[in-house]
Amino acid sequence: MILGVAYYPEHWPRERWETDARLMQEAGISRVRMAEFAWHRLEPREGQFDFGWLEEAINLFGRYGIQTILGTPTPTYPAWLHEMYPDIHQVKSNGQVKEWGQRQDACKNHPGYRAYARRIVEKMTAALGQNPHVVAWQTDNEFGCHGTARCHCPNCGRAFRSWLRRRFNNDIAALNAAWGTVFWSHEYDDFDQIWPPMDTADRTANDGQNPGLVLDFYRFSSDVQVEMNREQVEIIRRHSPGRPITHNLMGLFHQIDYFKLATDLDIVSWDNYPFLANNTNRPPAPLAHDLMRGLKQKPVWVMEQASGPGGWGSYAATPPPGQMRLWAYQAVARGADMISFFRWRSCRWGREQYWHGILYHHGIPQRRYEEVKQLGAEFRALSTELDGSEVAAEVGILYDYDSLWALETQPNTGDGFDYRAMANGWDAALARLGVVADAVSIDADLTRYKVLIAPSVHVCPPATAERLAAFVRAGGTLILGPRSGVKESEGAIVDALLPGPLREVAGCYVEEYDAFSQIPGLEMRVRCPANHLYRAYGLADVLVPEGDAEVSHRYEGRYYAGKPAVVRHAYGKGCCFYVGTVMEPAGLIGFLRYGVLPGAGVAVLSDLPECVEVSYRSRGGTRYAFYLNHSDAAVKVALARPGFDLLAAAAVGDSVEIPPFGVRIVREGGL
Ligand code: GAL
Repeated sequence: MILGVAYYPEHWPRERWETDARLMQEAGISRVRMAEFAWHRLEPREGQFDFGWLEEAINLFGRYGIQTILGTPTPTYPAWLHEMYPDIHQVKSNGQVKEWGQRQDACKNHPGYRAYARRIVEKMTAALGQNPHVVAWQTDNEFGCHGTARCHCPNCGRAFRSWLRRRFNNDIAALNAAWGTVFWSHEYDDFDQIWPPMDTADRTANDGQNPGLVLDFYRFSSDVQVEMNREQVEIIRRHSPGRPITHNLMGLFHQIDYFKLATDLDIVSWDNYPFLANNTNRPPAPLAHDLMRGLKQKPVWVMEQASGPGGWGSYAATPPPGQMRLWAYQAVARGADMISFFRWRSCRWGREQYWHGILYHHGIPQRRYEEVKQLGAEFRALSTELDGSEVAAEVGILYDYDSLWALETQPNTGDGFDYRAMANGWDAALARLGVVADAVSIDADLTRYKVLIAPSVHVCPPATAERLAAFVRAGGTLILGPRSGVKESEGAIVDALLPGPLREVAGCYVEEYDAFSQIPGLEMRVRCPANHLYRAYGLADVLVPEGDAEVSHRYEGRYYAGKPAVVRHAYGKGCCFYVGTVMEPAGLIGFLRYGVLPGAGVAVLSDLPECVEVSYRSRGGTRYAFYLNHSDAAVKVALARPGFDLLAAAAVGDSVEIPPFGVRIVREGGL
């Protein structure tokens, strides 16, 4: 277990560095991440490099036992580069230039930006890559943040056309057929006629242009980030071998296929700001943790975690005592081996003046520092137990960027039928039952899972259908969400009864689909086998079971009242559930608890208080259960198994009390 912090030596007088290093050491911090925004201080003038100050800081922290993770400084670029290339900026789909002043706004296909970015990474890694205190690298910073993963400038136009030529083997007829450009006479005679999708007559590019074009542009834009990352990874590996390379991802950020990006990383890291979404007495949604861990099906680092209230103009409520520590343990419980806080000290200037650090602007240690210090001491003590342990999930959530993007450009309807909301809904329902899921891609090792939940396999190429069917044939339980098997990989709708290539495994077909949520005031419900009624949202796939498939839930409402909403089909050694609508949380929980998990052999916890989250890490035959109380009141919870409370250093039996924002970590079994 490692504790770290983001530190910006360039923001503070040299005389202060040593005080910071000492305070960090006393708090148990053993990593600093530095330099990811320091391009101008590292190359103050074109071709003049200065790595001396950074090396001095690295060595100073090293003397205090604090090792450095270095960030390549390419998300922010010097004014001289802007001056050299006035067209360096990205362009929005409405033609507006993303002017100088933020970050990540240089076009990654701008040849000048790319050449200078490569050069600073070369020089930096050559200068500092062998320093014994440099133990890891972070490429760039949060690729795509502030909506910068998609650029519509002429350079991107050129790169997009080359990407399309490769994808379609230089065959424009194949592209025309795949996108169906015959519609509205949009057939192309040559790749040179294609542009990134721009806003149209009365629509944005996203909701006005050909869906095939938009989907491929989203894929291309993601690939550009992946390629930029790979370029840096290769340079770092050359000059700084043996140090793990990571990039700080943004959880559920959706414009980059993180599975692809992660293939080039040694370890996934990510930035965790729970206060952005949650300030209630309930657990922050676990899906971001579960996706980050699922990217490589391996432990992760949290490269940035909220260390106070954050915001640019106004800011979030301050985490009350214990909540930062609790969020850190939530991340650990869900697979993080390092928690690094953002940032050490609140910056006195700049857009992020109010994105608070552990210390306020004055730099005097106070309450939040003491909380981090407590965590540091605990991490040290826990390391012998937890180092090398991992989350071993029995359930997978199939997370598919193609489907997400296809639904981004054509949401079908709203009101709950939203890719991330549906994935979140399933994951949160599992969490209420004390079950942890990895969010994974179709290419992951699926044999680890007893149950696989696919929120919507909206884009379903034949290989995906085949892998899902094979999973079920081998004994897995598959849950398919609404509007699955609808689209081919380039966005054409299948020429078959839905769910198209998934019909055989699903054991049913879709007779009609209905966006009932578009009817004002209508409340759709589904009736479960135990006769409870649950609200349904978004839309309804009205199902017809085939062969020996059985109906479990039925619609209550509209002209299809009484018709199947959920169908169960035994297939091979496993079974598949087609769930034709979006059920309210209680409906999902009931369905999983009674309909799915017992049959699949996944144990659940009943009656977990709403404020309590449970997750597990295991090593060898030992399981560590984390009980996290996300509320500001103490709560009593029944334990999955008795054991030994590591933090309290005491045996625990059937139940424990957890203090407000408190944590219990129970090594299950004997002492
Ligand atoms: C992240 C970013 C940091 C800082 C922080 C607060 O998005 O990586 O550099 O900006 O959030 O906004």
